[in-house]
Amino acid sequence: MALDLTHIRAETPGIDKGIHLLAAGSALMPGTVVDAVIEHTRLEAEIGGYEAQAEKADELDAVYDKIATLLGASSREIAILENATVAWCHAFYALPLSRGDRVLTCEAEYAANYVAFLQRAKRDGIVIDIVPSNQDGALDLSALEEMIDERVALIATTWIPTNGGLVNPAEGIGAIARRHGIPYLLDACQAVGQMPVNVDALGCDFLSATGRKFLRGPRGTGFLYVRGEWLETLEPAMIDHFGAPWIAHDRYRLRPDARRFETWENSYALRAGLGAAVAYALSLGLPAIKDRAWALAHGLRERLERIPGCEVRDLGKNPCAIVSFTIEGLEPEETTLRLRKAGITIGSSGPASTRLDSEARHLPVLFRASPHYYNTEEELDRLVAALLACLDS
Ligand SMILES: Cc1ncc(COP(=O)(O)O)c(C=O)c1O
Repeated sequence: MALDLTHIRAETPGIDKGIHLLAAGSALMPGTVVDAVIEHTRLEAEIGGYEAQAEKADELDAVYDKIATLLGASSREIAILENATVAWCHAFYALPLSRGDRVLTCEAEYAANYVAFLQRAKRDGIVIDIVPSNQDGALDLSALEEMIDERVALIATTWIPTNGGLVNPAEGIGAIARRHGIPYLLDACQAVGQMPVNVDALGCDFLSATGRKFLRGPRGTGFLYVRGEWLETLEPAMIDHFGAPWIAHDRYRLRPDARRFETWENSYALRAGLGAAVAYALSLGLPAIKDRAWALAHGLRERLERIPGCEVRDLGKNPCAIVSFTIEGLEPEETTLRLRKAGITIGSSGPASTRLDSEARHLPVLFRASPHYYNTEEELDRLVAALLACLDS
C-alpha cells in the first residue's frame, strides 16, 4: 500500500517547524503519540496516577500486544523498559556467562553493549571475540561459522549500527546460532520502525529496541523481546517485587512472562505514547515504511556524491535509511549547529559510539542524516543546498 504523504505530514506536528532528517537520533512523533502522552498525563492530574493506570488498564496492557504484533512475538515475551540499552542489559546480564565463555560480536557493535562486554570480561572472565566483516563491510557469516566452538556461549550483534547504513545479516546469524544451539542477542534499536522485523525469521533469543528512533515514539521508552523458552529458566540480574512477587518470608516467584525484567514503577503516559507509535507504524505497514525511507536515503546518497569533497561512508550492499558521510572542509559538529540554525536537523556520530568499526576504517566524526518516510525529496534538495552554502561561506 502506498503511503499517503500529505496525510502523514499533516499528522506530524513537527513537519512545519523545519526539516528534520534525524530519525536515527529521535524522529518526529505523530500527533497521535503526542496526544496519547498528554491525555494520560492529564488524566493522572485529574484523578491521580494510580487511578489513571487502573482506568486505562486495558489500553495499557494492549501495548504489549501491539509490540508483539510488530515483532511477530507473543505478548508474554515482551518487557517494556525505559530505553534500548536497559532492555539489552537486562538480557545480557541475566545470562549466566562465566570464565572462558566466548561472546561473539560484530565490528559494528554499539558502544553501550561493548562496555558491558568489557565489564563482564573484567568481572566474570568472559572472552570477547570479534567476527570479521566481509568485503562489503557486513558481518562475515562464514567467518562466524568457523569461529564457533564449544566455548561460544553467546552471539550478540548489532543489526544496524548507529553510525551508518550497514544492515548486518541478522537472519543469517540467527540461522547459525540456532544450528549450534547458541543464545543470540540482537540489538535491533535502529531497525525497529524502519523495516519489518520478525523474531522467528531472525531466530533471535533476545531483541532490544527503542521507542524514539524510527518507531517515532516518545523519548524514554524501549522494549525487550525474550523468546518464550527462556522464561522457564532465565533469572534477571536485578529483580523487585513486581518482576518477582514476594510470596513467602523466604521466597519470591519470578513472573512467568518477560515482565520479570520490569520493575513496579513506570511512566504510563510514555507507555501510552509508545503504544500509539507502534499502532501508527502498523497501520502504515512496515514494508511501505521501509520502501520509502530507504528510497529517500538512496536518493540522498546520490545527491551527496555530487558535493565536492563529499564521501558517503555507509557500508553494505543494500544500505538502510541511515546515511553517513564526510565533506572535506566541513566539521560535522559545527556544521550541524549551523544547519540547525537554518532550520535543518541532521546529526553527527563520533568514533567512540562504534569504536571497532571507526578505528578499522580510520573514521573521523561523521555527518549522520536519516530520512524517514515522512520526509520529501525537496527536503533532501534543501539539505544539499545548505551543505553547499556552508562550503561556500
Ligand atoms: C545501535 C544502537 N543500539 C543501542 C542504542 C541505545 O538506544 P537507547 O539510547 O534507547 O538506549 C542506540 C542508540 O543510538 C543505537 O544506535
